[in-house]
Formats: sequence, C-alpha cells, structure tokens
Amino acid sequence: MPAIVLIGAQWGDEGKGKATDLLGDQVQWVVRYQGGNNAGHTVVLPDGQNFALKLIPSGILTEGVTNVIGNGVVVDPGALLDELRGLEEKGVDTSRLLLSADAHLIMPYHIAIDKVTERYLGSRKIGTTGRGIGPCYQDKVARVGVRVQDLLDEKILRQKVESALEVKNQILVKVYNRKALDPAQVADEVLAQGEQFAKRIADTRLELNKALEAGETMLLEGSQGTLLDVDHGTYPFVTSSNPTSGGASAGSGIGPGRISAVLGILKAYTTRVGSGPFPTELTDEMGEHLRKVGGEVGVNTGRDRRTGWFDAVIARYATRVNGITDYFLTKLDVLSGLESVPICVGYEVDGFHTEDMPMTQTDVHHAVPVYEQLPGWWEDISECRRFEDLPKNAQAYVHRIEELSGAQVSAIGVGPGRDQTITRHDIIR
Ligand code: IMP
Repeated sequence: MPAIVLIGAQWGDEGKGKATDLLGDQVQWVVRYQGGNNAGHTVVLPDGQNFALKLIPSGILTEGVTNVIGNGVVVDPGALLDELRGLEEKGVDTSRLLLSADAHLIMPYHIAIDKVTERYLGSRKIGTTGRGIGPCYQDKVARVGVRVQDLLDEKILRQKVESALEVKNQILVKVYNRKALDPAQVADEVLAQGEQFAKRIADTRLELNKALEAGETMLLEGSQGTLLDVDHGTYPFVTSSNPTSGGASAGSGIGPGRISAVLGILKAYTTRVGSGPFPTELTDEMGEHLRKVGGEVGVNTGRDRRTGWFDAVIARYATRVNGITDYFLTKLDVLSGLESVPICVGYEVDGFHTEDMPMTQTDVHHAVPVYEQLPGWWEDISECRRFEDLPKNAQAYVHRIEELSGAQVSAIGVGPGRDQTITRHDIIR
C-alpha cells in the first residue's frame, strides 16, 4: 500500500503542517525523515487550538495515527521532552510516538558550535536556526556522532561524549574563546533525558516496513523545503539534510518503490528565512503587505520572513527534483485584494533568458525575474470550499501555476483553519 511523501516546494514554511494534518485522517503512520527542531509546523484545530510542532510529526494530533521520528532526523533530547510536555498539557495523547534507534542526537556542544560559528561568520552567516542541526549532521557524516541507541548503553555514550569533547573543547576554547564543556556533566544530562523517552526507542525501519507489508498507508513528512536541500538547494544557504523526496527513503528506511505519490506544498507567493538569494524578493511596501497579511513570522525563531512574488522557475524545478505528482497550493487567500498578481515566469541572467534554474549559484544570485501580470480579485475567498466558488481570476491564477509548474494543483488553502481547504483531486489514490 502507498507511502506518500510531502515536501515543501520552496524555502520551507509553505504550510506543510496543515497538509499533514489534513491527510492524517487517511493514513495510519506519519514519519519525519530529516531535519530536527529547526522546523516549525503550525496546525490549527477546529476548536481554534493552535499547535506549533517542531520535531514531532503533525500526525500526533490525529487519533489512531502512529508517529515516527525516523533515522534521518537529528534529535535534541531536551527539545523533544519540552514538546512532549507541551502537547500533554494540551491534552494530546503522545503514546503513539516512536523514535528511531539510529537517529542522531543533537548534543549541547552542537548547539554551542552552531551559535558561535554564525557569530564568527558575521555578514557571511547562513542565518541558521541556532539549534545545532548543521554541527550534528557534520558529526554524523564524520562518523563521530552520538545516536539515540547510545542512550541505552551508558558506557558507550560516556566514551563517545568524552572523545567528541576532546576535539570540540579545543575548538570552543582556542578558536572561539568560549568555555570548555565538562564531558561527565554533558553525559549525565543527556542520559537523564534519555531515560524519560527510552520506551519510545524502536527499530522504526522494521516497524515501517512491516506496516507497509500489512497494507497500511503512511505519510513521509519533509521539513524545510526543496531550495534548502543540501544537494539541490541554494548552497551554502541551505540546511544540512535532504528534504527533497529522495531523502524520504534514506531517512526512514523504506524502499523508493514504495512511494506512490509526492505531494508538493507550494505557497501562492514566496517566503524565505535566513540569508541567501531570493530572485522575486519584495523589499518594498508590497513585501510588507504580504508579510502582514500572511502572518509571515517564523514559528520556531520568531524571525520575520522575507517575502516575494510566486516564482514558477522554482516550482518547475521542485516538480522535477522531487517528482511531484500533486500540489497543495497554500495561502491563496493572502493574495485577495490586489489589482494584479505577478508571476515570475523566467529569469534574465547577464543578458540571457532562462525558464530553468540556473546551473551556477552565481547566476542564481544575478537572476532578475521576468514577470507575467495576472488580473487580481477582490473577494474574500476564505469561505470558498469548491474550486468553482473561487473568483474567475483566482481560478485563472491556479490554472497558470499548474501550466508553469507541470503538476496538478489538487488542494488549495484559503485560510489557516483545518477546514479552510478546497480539495480538487484525491491525493491518496
Ligand atoms: P539550519 O537548518 O538551522 O542549519 O538553518 C539553515 C537554513 O535553513 C537557514 O537559512 C534557516 O533559516 C533555514 N531553515 C531551517 N529550518 C527551516 C524551516 O523550517 N523553515 C524555513 N527555513 C528553515
């Protein structure tokens, strides 16, 4: 039975939490396969309760769904416990959360190094979330990481922390002029945290494959977005993992042939947090308007998001890189009340015209958007529940996005609420 991948088609914050929550009714499993608590998923329930999820899959809010933090995720134990506590205080049943024994742990020294590195880089900084994500993935690849399963073997965990800190302390003290961390104290803290979620540690690769063999349906929930992918994004202004659909298999342990659909989440305009190129960015009043009406402030970091017009070059790129079969177009309501709505259909780069993502990062930095103007609409569309109910110009905007991106728009978000969605085609088929 199918595994569906859900992936951000732009720079993250496209509204993935809402899409996961929506599909949660039709799936038995929701799986995170990369990233960590750098993500921020806002979900609004029918009773108006607002949840900001960072590490835990959005399916935790749907009864009967088993949630998995897969092997490709990096886990900050303190952040995990805080999030569990927050959910439990709101009456959410968190018993259906499993944690891969192979996931890597974000250690206190990863967070310290993330922060000091950014400070050191100054104007060249990535604009990371400061959660230790990059340094943790660095250790994973360097084969000196600490994994969730190490929490079950105190001796091994202490050894690993000690040898990691032999090097990290040199960096913290000699390069960045910070205080050294005490290995025993770090290990004590992490072991005490681990005890509190030990019962959730599982061979999630086995559990997921057994579930697929039993005919169950699962959603593999990507964090961040296509252009923040370490391979396919706007490097070096990216995160340190693979949010694109290819990462879903590696980060969960299921075969790629199990994936039957890839749902891209696409905001009706564009936003980005942190540094890096953004061809359609608006730094004028219109950018401020989109930020205000769209509530474009980071869920996780509280930073203002940069805003800009819809970029079809990015959408077409995302369709190809991820093999997107369907789009969920979010926040269409934010564009109501504009005289005309521009769509970027290509770039001019040093005198050349292209409709595809430039090969080099230098060209992406130099790309000047070429716009097509579409007529706007004035009506409030937040109560529309069928495509035919949308104003003709809003329908035309959606049709044009389908043409330019090369994939069908199967769902449209017209407001933050769970019910404020127009469904055009079944995604799970
Ligand atoms: P890191 O993932 O904390 O290392 O940050 C790397 C880049 O990814 C920075 O530009 C962050 O702002 C961005 N980023 C990380 N997570 C998210 C997210 O969930 N939404 C949007 N941007 C993100």
